[in-house]
Amino acid sequence: MSRAQRKIDHIRHALSHERELHNHFDDIEIIHQSLARLDFNQLRIDMKVGELNLSSPLFVNAMTGGGGEETKAINRDLALVARETGIGMAVGSQMSAIKNVEERHTYAIVRQMNPEGFIFANVGSEASLDQAEQAVDMIQADALQIHVNTLQELIMPEGDRNFTQRLDNIQRIVSSIELPVIVKEVGYGMSMETIETLQQIGVRYIDVGGRGGTNFSKVENMRRERPFASFNNWGIPTPASILETAGSGLHVFASGGIRNGLDGAKALVLGAEGFGMAGSLLRVLVNDGINSLIEEVAHIHHEMKMVMMLMNAAVPHELKGQPYILLGHTKEWYDQRIQ
Ligand code: FNR
Repeated sequence: MSRAQRKIDHIRHALSHERELHNHFDDIEIIHQSLARLDFNQLRIDMKVGELNLSSPLFVNAMTGGGGEETKAINRDLALVARETGIGMAVGSQMSAIKNVEERHTYAIVRQMNPEGFIFANVGSEASLDQAEQAVDMIQADALQIHVNTLQELIMPEGDRNFTQRLDNIQRIVSSIELPVIVKEVGYGMSMETIETLQQIGVRYIDVGGRGGTNFSKVENMRRERPFASFNNWGIPTPASILETAGSGLHVFASGGIRNGLDGAKALVLGAEGFGMAGSLLRVLVNDGINSLIEEVAHIHHEMKMVMMLMNAAVPHELKGQPYILLGHTKEWYDQRIQ
């Protein structure tokens, strides 16, 4: 099977796998406030997260981009939507394009489509400093994501098995690259122990990439003759993972299973500063096209601003710490891990 075909399969499986019946964002209820004091039309959603100047807390998260013409077309369309809506966008892993020069145009298109936009480069934690710099140069990125995906690799028959150098690689990149570097999970979440270790090596930005949306155990198991189905529910749900970051002082992005602007607002209430969406945006693009995705982004912004209105939050940062209650699994998680 060609690499391009494998990436198309990846996308198909990512969009079609069975979702969890329960979304953990439903375990959070923001407490309604009756007395609004702001003007909806004056609400600001542009913001600063550390050194990142973003026009919205929402961004398109990394999705496989390189390979063939079909994945290039997806990258082009996502970049166009990001440009039209002003949101940030992460490209998918650039590792294969770093190794195969002929794939680079399938990423470079993102910068061509959106010359002024905020774009995140993306590499795996196997990347050397030189490879990370190539990824940034390829798309003149504004920030760099390094993804960590141990379980996905372990399920993939051709996946990596030796992770002895990973922490050193991350440390080298974080200490040498001038741009903000975000260490991100891909759907298994980050624990407070992981966060502490990342902090010790100088990491300042993370994307918790929690469980609850695109599930790479299921995606990779669909490609295996003998699946490791017992790992299909492994990982820290996104809201629990945001709670795990409490008090760390890191800049936290949330992703994994965010379905709409209300989920995004809940992530901000729990302590994240921005939120990424991958699978649910790609599904709209593939099924309904570019214009529908532009409308969807506007709808997500509108929903988030409705929550800001209800909480009297004039800017997204003011959502942090608004009153909420936790239910069910997330409450149990909080009681046993955080309290
Ligand atoms: C991804 N994701 C991902 N992440 C990453 O860091 N590098 C990558 O190359 C990819 N590739 C990729 C392909 C496809 C088709 C999807 C749907 C996702 C993971 C993504 O950025 C995100 O962390 C998870 O998908 C969780 O978010 P959602 O999909 O639940 O919103």
